[in-house]
Amino acid sequence: MNPTVYNTALVLHIVGITLMGGATFIEYITFRQFWKTVASDRNKAMVVWETISNQQKLMGFGMLIIIMSGVTMMYYLHEAWGAQLWFRIKFGLLIIVIFNGLGVRRVLGSRLNKKLTLAGPVDSIIALTTKIRSNILIVHIIQLLLFLTIFVLSIFKFT
Ligand code: HEM
Repeated sequence: MNPTVYNTALVLHIVGITLMGGATFIEYITFRQFWKTVASDRNKAMVVWETISNQQKLMGFGMLIIIMSGVTMMYYLHEAWGAQLWFRIKFGLLIIVIFNGLGVRRVLGSRLNKKLTLAGPVDSIIALTTKIRSNILIVHIIQLLLFLTIFVLSIFKFT
């Protein structure tokens, strides 16, 4: 094993986690701001909505770094980690992270986008989007809990 390459991959793993986890948390906060603003000033809310879309790109980029660095570490130590319980559970959770955070979240995002563009000037966005709003909140809560669980698994490394 080349320890420099392995440690560099681990550093990048943490960078990716920071980007993705950070973007998820910031998106949760920005959404709160969005729902507050959309009730009073729709134009201002559209600016917040654009910021949210950029955070989605950051999440995807973070995920890419996490996976590439994770695969690099596994290239060197797959025999050690691959058979361990923590890693197997983590891998299962990772699939849910991708499905929930990038898949379900994206579908909800485009539904919300459609509602925002089709809503007439007198329509209440809040009334039109009640279901989407609660679903996005659920996505965020699940995503943050999954991250926390993966942190615990990866650091305690239960065998
Ligand atoms: C949401 C996705 C992921 C998160 C949040 C995450 C998080 C973490 C954390 C917090 C650590 C502990 C770092 C340390 O001990 O200093 C770690 C280690 C590790 N991760 Fe991930 N990880 C993710 C995805 C992946 C993937 C996709 C792979 C492999 C394909 C992977 C492979 C590894 C390996 C091999 C280690 C052990 C490194 C070591 O302690 O030497 N991870 N991960």
